[in-house]
Amino acid sequence: MSEALLQSVGEQIADLQAHFVRHERFRQLDEVFRLLKHRRQADIRAGRSRELRGIAVIGASGSGKTTAVDRLLRNASKDGDTGDHWEIISLRVPSPATVKFVGQTILRGLGYPVNGRREAWYVWNLVRHHLRERQTLFLHLDEAQDLAARGTERERQSVVNLLKSLMQDPDWPVCLILSGTGELADILNFDPQLGRRFQPIRFDPVNEISDLGKVRDLLSAYVAKTSLSADDGIGTNEFAARLVHAAANEFGLIIEITIVAIEVAFLRQGASLTVADFAGAFRRRTGCIDGLNPFVAQNFRRIDPRELLADEGRIA
Ligand SMILES: Nc1ncnc2c1ncn2[C@@H]1O[C@H](COP(=O)(O)OP(=O)(O)OP(=O)(O)O)[C@@H](O)[C@H]1O
Ligand SMILES: [Mg+2]
Repeated sequence: MSEALLQSVGEQIADLQAHFVRHERFRQLDEVFRLLKHRRQADIRAGRSRELRGIAVIGASGSGKTTAVDRLLRNASKDGDTGDHWEIISLRVPSPATVKFVGQTILRGLGYPVNGRREAWYVWNLVRHHLRERQTLFLHLDEAQDLAARGTERERQSVVNLLKSLMQDPDWPVCLILSGTGELADILNFDPQLGRRFQPIRFDPVNEISDLGKVRDLLSAYVAKTSLSADDGIGTNEFAARLVHAAANEFGLIIEITIVAIEVAFLRQGASLTVADFAGAFRRRTGCIDGLNPFVAQNFRRIDPRELLADEGRIA
């Protein structure tokens, strides 16, 4: 394959991957976020301080949580109308999520690496100090289900209590955004005091029946961004159902598989995007035989795509 073709395909795929689809859940998240931001800023302007509420973005792996929150926070930092009181820290919950390690990770996110030998209480005092100094409005923790992954019950409760205390800090309360899989909901349900402080936004699975129209629109929109035409075979409800199934009903994975299929079509220098390109995309992702490929197999509903996709390490 020529270097020129590879470069052209690489560039087009990179552009497709950079595209963000503003879906319904994102709009909801965006609204809740902006409302919280305005409330907090009004309080700051008026010199009021009161405990804050947070947002919990909950959805399965591949639903699009990280992508959505990243977009939200990127838009927010570009806003420019945020005045002096503006700072967002976004980080991934470390493993193991011990009191000290979580504190150190937040500190690093704030730009203050701390000596690993310091005691946990000292680290958290620094966290509170710097959040106040930097006037941090939002703290986003991704993969927040990992807060419950390891350690003892007591350790987990301590981390949760410390996070809660950040939202209740009398001098400078911080708004938390937690994103994670279903186990995050368990953490919030387990501690009602914490749970009631969060507004949950669920990135629900895509439905194999009622959402087919939207999936077909999504597919057309992606094809329209390319020079390809859509083969008749991918315009049907049955195909859309296969795509949804192959993506384990997750919105983000539908997009991921579609982009890989477009790449397959580009590389074979085809004029249209076909079912075979999707079959090729799934094969490439999972390495599986045609009998287990939802774009090939007769009875595709019997296949468990989550298991196949997990082999690649993408879905836990
Ligand atoms: N709104 C969107 N527009 C375009 N692409 C998206 C969108 N949401 C998700 N994607 C794509 O879907 C894939 C999975 O999304 P993402 O990594 O955000 O999922 P996640 O819910 O954070 O999964 P995990 O729990 O495994 O971290 C990514 O490759 C991303 O590019
Ligand atoms: Mg993620």
